[in-house]
Amino acid sequence: MRRFFEEEVVYQIYPRSFQDSNGDGIGDLNGIISRLDYLRELGVKILWLSPIYASPNADYGYDISDYFSINPEFGTMDDFERLISEAKKRGIRIVMDLVVNHTSNKHQWFIASKNENSPYRSYYYWRKGRKDNKLPPNNWTSNFGGSAWTYVEEADAWYLHLFTPEQPDLDWHNPKVLEEVEKILRFYLDKGVYGFRCDVINQIYKESLADGKRRVRTIGLEHYLQKENNHQILHTLYEDVFSHYDCMTVGETGGVDFKNARRFTNEELDMVFQFDTINSDSRKIPLLAPKMQKKRFKRTLFAWQKELDWNAVCFENHDQRRSLPRFGNPKKYPYESGSMLATLLLTMRGTPFIYQGEEIGMTNYKNLKPEEYKDVVGLYIYSLLRKMHLPRKTSERVASYFNRDNARSPMQWNGEINAGFSTGVPWLPVNGDYQEVNVLKEQNDEESIYKAYKTLLKLRREDDVLRYGTFEETRTKSSFIAYYRLYEGGLRFVIANLTGHRVKLPQWIKRMRGEVLYSNYCGAGFLFKKVLRPYEALIIKIR
Ligand code: NOJ
Repeated sequence: MRRFFEEEVVYQIYPRSFQDSNGDGIGDLNGIISRLDYLRELGVKILWLSPIYASPNADYGYDISDYFSINPEFGTMDDFERLISEAKKRGIRIVMDLVVNHTSNKHQWFIASKNENSPYRSYYYWRKGRKDNKLPPNNWTSNFGGSAWTYVEEADAWYLHLFTPEQPDLDWHNPKVLEEVEKILRFYLDKGVYGFRCDVINQIYKESLADGKRRVRTIGLEHYLQKENNHQILHTLYEDVFSHYDCMTVGETGGVDFKNARRFTNEELDMVFQFDTINSDSRKIPLLAPKMQKKRFKRTLFAWQKELDWNAVCFENHDQRRSLPRFGNPKKYPYESGSMLATLLLTMRGTPFIYQGEEIGMTNYKNLKPEEYKDVVGLYIYSLLRKMHLPRKTSERVASYFNRDNARSPMQWNGEINAGFSTGVPWLPVNGDYQEVNVLKEQNDEESIYKAYKTLLKLRREDDVLRYGTFEETRTKSSFIAYYRLYEGGLRFVIANLTGHRVKLPQWIKRMRGEVLYSNYCGAGFLFKKVLRPYEALIIKIR
């Protein structure tokens, strides 16, 4: 029997920036409810919400102070229950974010844990420091820069945090932590939630606290990246909880390799996120501007298709710069390259994840000033570079590249005030391009990225070959990508130009005959075709 997530497409919502319903400038649950018809019409059936739990917002929801209540900025538990039931009426299911590598430092457990005699002490990593408690217990650095340890006077000890100091790491050696997490899972699954996206789930188990090898980033990683007990813990969660519900789980697993990914997706989780494709544009020297590297992009896509039978496929999320400027050309070919990316995303084997705004080709900020940044990463990098006496302009350029606000700018619904996101002052400025890039315009334009998504989503739903078919790569020049999908005698050929130039096709493709199921150029006949136009993408049904 096929499972729901193998048949449907997931849409990620960053609630803070999706739709504000009460004019406070912050997106909320009622806002999401008001947009359910939009999502139904688009054709997505699963919504993953970035964290909506109570949070002091040091990392905008990824620091949770109470897992059993909703952030009042977003609404109430009643609103959340209404969201689940309104979604259900439309055939849509809700997936939550599960953040259990760490809690907020304002969580009751952590507050209590400062007391050495509290039963909560061992929920976290409290340790004495080196050199008479003056230096951190080891040399680990946090994912967001700086030491991974913070000293607390009243506890007279240091605690570990792989992210900001406001996000103390839970100690998964303690079986109580597992018990608590199982309670959270059951609480939401019993409410009718369809599953969880599990935050940094391949780092939860710290095998040892020994010094890490010296490296540029995240010193200590080798002591906690996907350890054996990490797999054991997830298997226990699977056995105890997930396997008893009709639910979906996807792990955020940065740095995952094929071997571990296969384990994670076997009686632990259903899918994992790999970041090789998204990061295929990064350069060895961090200060160099990222650049689309077609060969690498293709290689990573193909490799992950080959290595796992079924996995998550995505080009964007709330931590990443937008995919259109990364892998397409928003200036000259916004529609062509945006619809080309949509074609790839929706014709891979696996469950596609669309990130809010991707379906209309939203882009990164052009001129967001560091004073306007909200993201801890952007702010940290900017201040670090300034401390290193780099010129302001250079610091701004580099920080704006890492700044995760790029993906979090408010959703652009229309050309009216604040792009229709809010009647108040948006918590993050609306991107300056909202007059040209917005849902309403995309819906009215004859040709648009939105329409491409809608068409492709429908096609995928109606075509078993695209949904269930095996993936067969072909070897071609790096300027274009081509692959087959094969299912019960049906064959589809997907071909896409990855460049803004015309690309000549080889003989074997020119000779191919078939029916065009989708083309992002109107009036395209595949017969007699010799070249692909800029970012042209086609799905052909081979007879
Ligand atoms: C990954 C999340 O996607 C990111 O937004 C967050 O900052 C870190 N995990 C820490 O929770």
